[in-house]
Formats: sequence, C-alpha cells, structure tokens
Amino acid sequence: MSGVTKTLRRRGATPYKKHWTDAIRRAEMEKTVDIANQDGTEALAAKLATMAQAGDVILLHGTLGMGKSAFCRAYIRALAGNPDEEVPSPTFTLVQIYELDPLPVWHFDLYRLSDPEETLELDIEDAFHDAVSLIEWPDRLGYLTPKDHLDIHIEPGPTHDARRIRLSPSGAGWQARLAKMAGPL
Ligand SMILES: Nc1ncnc2c1ncn2[C@@H]1O[C@H](COP(=O)(O)OP(=O)(O)O)[C@@H](O)[C@H]1O
Ligand SMILES: [Mg+2]
Repeated sequence: MSGVTKTLRRRGATPYKKHWTDAIRRAEMEKTVDIANQDGTEALAAKLATMAQAGDVILLHGTLGMGKSAFCRAYIRALAGNPDEEVPSPTFTLVQIYELDPLPVWHFDLYRLSDPEETLELDIEDAFHDAVSLIEWPDRLGYLTPKDHLDIHIEPGPTHDARRIRLSPSGAGWQARLAKMAGPL
C-alpha cells in the first residue's frame, strides 16, 4: 500500500515540479509595458515586427475593444513597410493571409470557432511552420496551441485609452529574444 503511494508520489512529482519551474521562469521573463494611447500599442507592434521570424506564433489576449486588432494592423503594416496596407478584420473569414516581402503573416480571429480542429481546415499548421501567426481569441486553439509562442495580454489602464500590455514568452527562442529586446518597449 505505502509502496504504491510512494510510486504515485514519485511519478507525480516530476511533471508537477516542471509545471511550476516553467511557470516561474515564464513569469521572470515577462515584460510589462504601460502605454497611454493607441500610438503606444502601434509602436510596440512595430517593434515586435522588426524581430519577426518564420514560425512565430503571437497570441493576443484581451476583452473586446482592448486593441488586439489594432495591434495586428500595426504589426502587418510595419512588416509590409506600408502604412496604408489594407488590414480587414478576419472576424467572419477567421483568417486573412498577407504575402509580405520578408515573411507571410496569417492574421486569425478565432472568436467564432467552436472546435480547435476547425483550425486544421484553415491549414493553420502551414502558418505555424512558414509564416508569422497573429491570433486573436487564442484560447479557442486549446490543445493545438504550439508550445513555443508569445502571449500578449492587453489589459485596461487608468484612462480610457491607456493599456497595460504584458508580454509572456514560452519556449527558449522567445525567451531569449524578449530578453534581448533593448530599450523602452
Ligand atoms: N491604447 C490603445 N490601443 C489600442 N486601441 C486603442 C487604444 N486606445 C483606444 N483604442 C481604440 O480601441 C479600439 C480597439 O479596437 P480593436 O483593435 O478592434 O479591439 P479588439 O480587436 O481587441 O476587439 C479601437 O477603436 C481603437 O481606436
Ligand atoms: Mg479584434
């Protein structure tokens, strides 16, 4: 009896400890930026666009109207080098694809998704390999969320247009890149 309990404890210990070690490491790597208005959101998006790499997965969290789409629009325009690039909302199409010169960008809005597997019909795996994926309402991805990604949480600030933006990297690649991100965000 006690042998069984011990075995179970030993088995359980490793993933439990790893879970917390990962969570603590992620929290230590987190960057928080307080911004006054939409210009701040757009500047942050443009800065992240300078670091774009194929396979980047950026998950945008925040309630309706927090500026997830505004962030994506600024990111795509910065990467395109074109401030007038049309960036329609993918609310109904679920995805809009931009074949930009340095890299393609897939902009997802998964609000209307009911099952994570519906994303496979959108060829989301291709985006995860070859493109930058900007994903609004990423909780809909569930178990299909790639292990390496950057979580961006946009939260209300003290004034109407102010926001607190939290960048939380998962995976060694994002952690190293975020740590290297110089200067004020
Ligand atoms: N700091 C800010 N960052 C982003 N958007 C802001 C900010 N302040 C005000 N806004 C406004 O909030 C709205 C954000 O809308 P949107 O980007 O569609 O949000 P979401 O995609 O999160 O629902 C826009 O009308 C934008 O002009
Ligand atoms: Mg949106």
